[in-house]
Amino acid sequence: MKVGIVGWRGMVGSVLMQRMQEENDFALGFEPVFFTTSQAGQPAPMGAGTLKKADDIEELKKLDVIITCQGGDYTKAVHPELRKQGWNGYWIDAASTLRMEDNAVIILDPVNRNVIDKALANGQKDFIGGNCTVSLMLMGLGGLFRAGLVEWISSMTYQAASGAGAPNMRELLSQMGVLQGVVAKELKDAGSAILEIDKKVTQTLRDGSMPTKEFGFPLAGNVLPWIDREVEDGQSREELKGFQETNKILGTSAPIPVDGICVRVGAMRCHSQAITIKLNKDLPLAEIEQLIANDNQWVKLIPNNKADTLAGLTPAAVSGTLTVPVGRVRKMKMGPQYVQAFTCGDQLLWGAAEPLRRMLRILLE
Ligand code: HSE
Repeated sequence: MKVGIVGWRGMVGSVLMQRMQEENDFALGFEPVFFTTSQAGQPAPMGAGTLKKADDIEELKKLDVIITCQGGDYTKAVHPELRKQGWNGYWIDAASTLRMEDNAVIILDPVNRNVIDKALANGQKDFIGGNCTVSLMLMGLGGLFRAGLVEWISSMTYQAASGAGAPNMRELLSQMGVLQGVVAKELKDAGSAILEIDKKVTQTLRDGSMPTKEFGFPLAGNVLPWIDREVEDGQSREELKGFQETNKILGTSAPIPVDGICVRVGAMRCHSQAITIKLNKDLPLAEIEQLIANDNQWVKLIPNNKADTLAGLTPAAVSGTLTVPVGRVRKMKMGPQYVQAFTCGDQLLWGAAEPLRRMLRILLE
C-alpha cells in the first residue's frame, strides 16, 4: 500500500506523526509518501524519498490511501478533483468538509467500529475524523449510548485554545503575559489593594491593548461563549455538530437530541464538558458508573470527591495523554433519570489525530 501523508507539519499533523512513531505504525509495511505545499523536492521524513507537491493530482492518484491534516480548503480543492478523475483510494481526513456527506463515515473506532466495518464492507472510501468535542464526549460516555440509555444529552463545553488553531494558543499565552505585566509591580507587594489590581486588569481587558488578532477578544481572564458561526435559531455551528455528528457516529436510526452551549476558555489543548443526561430509565448510580468505566480502555472513572476530581479531572492532568476521565457523576435533583457528569480530553489526540492513525491501521489489518 502506498500511503500519502499531507499536512504532517501543522499542529494536528505533527501530533499524528508523533503518535504514528510512538505506535510503530511506520513498521506496518506500507510505503509512506509525504506531501508539502511549499517545499517540494526536499528530503521527506522517515527517509521516504523527497517531498511531493500536495496539489499534484497525478502523484496523489498513485496512492492507495491519503491521510490529510492539511485543512478544509485543501480537502475542498483536491478531494472532488481526485474523485472526478476516478481515483478510488481511501481518503482519511481531519477536516470537517466531508463529514456530513452521505458517503463519508465519521471515524471513532473505539465507539463506532461497527459503523466503520459496515462502511468498508459497502466499499465506502471517505473516512473523516469527527469534531473534537463530539469525539471526546463519546469516548467518555460511549458506554451509556451503547447501552441505549440516553434519551437526550446536554453538553456545556469548556474548549481549549488549540481547537481554534496553533496561533490562538500563542495568543492566549501572550494575553496572559500582558495581564500579568500590567500589575506585576502590585503583585510583588502583598499589601497592594486587590481592587486596584482588578481595576487595572479589567481596564486592560477592555482598552484594546491586548493581542487579539486570532480570537478577536481577550480569552485570558475571560470566557468566550460562542464558537464558529451562527447556523440557525441562535445556535452556533460547533453546537449543531454536537447533534449531527453524535448521531452520525453512532449510526442512530432515531436521532438522540444533543444540545448545549460551546464556550472557549483559557485552556491550552484539553476540551472539557459539563454534561446533563436524561436517561430513558432509572438505573442505580453504581450501574451507570460501571457502564461508563468499562466501555473502552481509555475512559477513566474519577470518584466523585473533591480530591480525586481536582487531581485527575482537569486539562492540566490530562493534556498530552489519551486518557479520557469522566467524573462528577451523580443523580441530579431534577429526578432519578437525570445524571450529571464532567469529562475532559486532549483535543489534539482523540479529538483530532488519534482516530486517523487508527483508521489507517484498520485498513492495513
Ligand atoms: N471546532 C473545534 C474547536 C476544534 O473550535 O475547538 C476542532 O474540532
